[in-house]
Amino acid sequence: MSDKKASNQMWGGRFASGPAAIMEAINASIGFDKKLYAQDIRGSVAHSEMLAETGIISGDDQQKIAHGLNTILREIEDSKFEFSTRLEDIHMNVEARLADLIGPAAGRLHTARSRNDQVALDFRLWVKDEFNRVAVALKGLIAVFVERAEQHAGTVMPGFTHLQTAQPVTFGHHCMAYVEMFARDLSRVRDAIERMDESPLGAAALAGTGFPIDRFQTAKALGFREPTRNSLDSVSDRDYALEFLSVASICATHLSRLAEEIVIWSTPQFGFVRLSDSFSTGSSIMPQKKNPDAAELVRAKTGRVNGHLIGLLTVMKGLPLTYSKDMQEDKEAVFDAAETLDLMIAAMTGMVGDMTINEQAMKKAAGSGYSTATDLADWLVRSLGMPFREAHHVTGRAVALAESKKVGLEKLTIEDLKSIHDGITEDVFSVLSVQNSVKSRTSFGGTAPAEVRKQIRYWKKRLAKA
Ligand code: ARG
Repeated sequence: MSDKKASNQMWGGRFASGPAAIMEAINASIGFDKKLYAQDIRGSVAHSEMLAETGIISGDDQQKIAHGLNTILREIEDSKFEFSTRLEDIHMNVEARLADLIGPAAGRLHTARSRNDQVALDFRLWVKDEFNRVAVALKGLIAVFVERAEQHAGTVMPGFTHLQTAQPVTFGHHCMAYVEMFARDLSRVRDAIERMDESPLGAAALAGTGFPIDRFQTAKALGFREPTRNSLDSVSDRDYALEFLSVASICATHLSRLAEEIVIWSTPQFGFVRLSDSFSTGSSIMPQKKNPDAAELVRAKTGRVNGHLIGLLTVMKGLPLTYSKDMQEDKEAVFDAAETLDLMIAAMTGMVGDMTINEQAMKKAAGSGYSTATDLADWLVRSLGMPFREAHHVTGRAVALAESKKVGLEKLTIEDLKSIHDGITEDVFSVLSVQNSVKSRTSFGGTAPAEVRKQIRYWKKRLAKA
């Protein structure tokens, strides 16, 4: 019976050739795991060197293997390599080509190894490289925020809670909040690298091997701190992928919050920032518009990254030890999350570096919404010895009066204020301006420009070492 006849009406379409084609389609991972070619070849070269040094294969065979693998690397990089779905994955594609190139010696490469430890190794190497790429990108983003903070340590803007004007802060202080967030992401990346820095190569299928291999040698050759300590765990562990997705999700979530702020700040109603033309688009019908598309897309792409985390957690949650084919589903999630995150960080770094800050609009907004009410209450506590709860109440009456007169707190007359509490003196006006309000918040980590500059100095020193 031909394959064609074996197909049935329901399969139809692209699976017209029957069960064999369906199996190939569901089983093959080469479509996405070819991304691991460099790691696969690196791992195989290190493995073959170790096999030769321990006398498991001859030096002669090892040379042929290494030479063949290098040829394959070049073929792939020059797009001359023909990937075959029939050969399932990157490991078998490389091995089959090696046999074409060097003959029987190729068959010795897989001694004391299985695709289970091979894929665990390749993927770990890839994730480790990606963690390092993210670290570099995050450092760039942090540097941009530190620079903007330096320029705007004294630029007053409203601070918000519930997106309602709360108290005046500085834009520099706001920028440094993002430095804290992204620096935590960076430290999560570093922690994750530290934890995953072990080589699974040599765990073989699941139980280790009887060949006298040297796992410490391959671990070292591949840049790992040491080999993993349990062969079962080595082939069934995907924590490094889950950690990458977790770190990526938290970082993406930070980027998304920032994106949301940029969307709000760039509206004509706020007008705090103006995005550069490179990071915004016009409308095809409304000439006045400048849309923050890049920020919106950063916000949206967070959904994809977070989704991949839940996706892989769900793949892993029911798997008995050790390897199950389910685990082949780990790669697309991580590859897509990585590509997405890299782009998100790059877009944000560009956007924040390029955007124009409208200091006038920020300052004007900072003074609205009775943002210095807390300063008035604090003045009553400090100058009149009033208990804070009572000061809060008195201030509430001052806000109500200002509201009824449709003016800001600083525009109330001394008579107005005395009608609320006769202890109030002219001195109170010194705290009612946004500038003085901000200047007074000198507590450690507070928004006073002097304090913000102190934190900038701290981070510059720390990042120089990072
Ligand atoms: N392509 C497979 C994966 O990504 C490689 C490991 C295959 N191992 C096996 N026992 N079938 O997981």
